[in-house]
Amino acid sequence: MSWIEIKDYRAGGWEPNTNADARSFHYCRQLEQGQILFFPQPPFQLPLEDSSYLISQPQTDSRLHKNISYRPETDLLRGFGGGREDEKRVRGIMRSYSSQVTEFVSTFLAPYANKLQRDYASFRPLEEEGRDLPLHKRNDLLHVDAFPSRPTCGGRILRVFTNLNPSKGRLWLTGQRFPALAERYAKPAGLETIVASGTRRGVMHALHAVGLPVADRSAYDEFMLHFHDYLKENTEFQQSRDKERIEFPPLATWLVFTDGVPHAALSGQYAMEQTFIVPAGALVSREDAPIAVLERICGRKMA
Ligand SMILES: [Fe+2]
Repeated sequence: MSWIEIKDYRAGGWEPNTNADARSFHYCRQLEQGQILFFPQPPFQLPLEDSSYLISQPQTDSRLHKNISYRPETDLLRGFGGGREDEKRVRGIMRSYSSQVTEFVSTFLAPYANKLQRDYASFRPLEEEGRDLPLHKRNDLLHVDAFPSRPTCGGRILRVFTNLNPSKGRLWLTGQRFPALAERYAKPAGLETIVASGTRRGVMHALHAVGLPVADRSAYDEFMLHFHDYLKENTEFQQSRDKERIEFPPLATWLVFTDGVPHAALSGQYAMEQTFIVPAGALVSREDAPIAVLERICGRKMA
């Protein structure tokens, strides 16, 4: 089983008389090793009127924006097609979700507190089943996450999802975890070539150093971006047998390092999500991070 249900955590903390520090450490390690942590109910405040309001918004299918996204640092909403008043309310709901989740993660995963980089939040209003998206943007193909505009330099991508749908589960497919995945596919995907080609990255570093807005990507980031696309393109991998289906019921919340757990959303509508980057120095099990796995395989530093 690749997911763990957590029943004894309530909004604000563990039940009394439990060893909170040891538990937090334990769950950080479980996550870093590829487990999915699952809560049957949101372990933070999520007003019913907020989720009902989001669900009631008319949907606009856009090939430009896959989802409605919220950027906490600038309080910016993107991809919402409604009027100004609705946009203001949606932004307020996403702002509140983002801070509730951040507070929860900082308590539940205490070793990461004060070290987390809060990334974007998103609302996914469209039914995943049968979506018409370009191949590299398809959610129903197994992949590990990497962001073109936000290189992590070896930091990890932690995502918290909530299924807002009051009556329908969200169905995921997951695959073999990063160590087995990389062992099988990293070299065929071109790991050694990417690590060896330092020239382009040298130019990128130079441009970045003089203040030009260029994403300062490490070899690790270059590889992970490429690996995301490679896996989606790879029919043999997509059809392999080592997969597990997980259905997250209405109002479930789950946490997962999506850079280490191959995942695909097969069906489901109305999910909220908050992303964090956990810097390498905050991890409790650095040897399990994808960058460490890849560096062992190629024998070179990648960040
Ligand atoms: Fe993903």
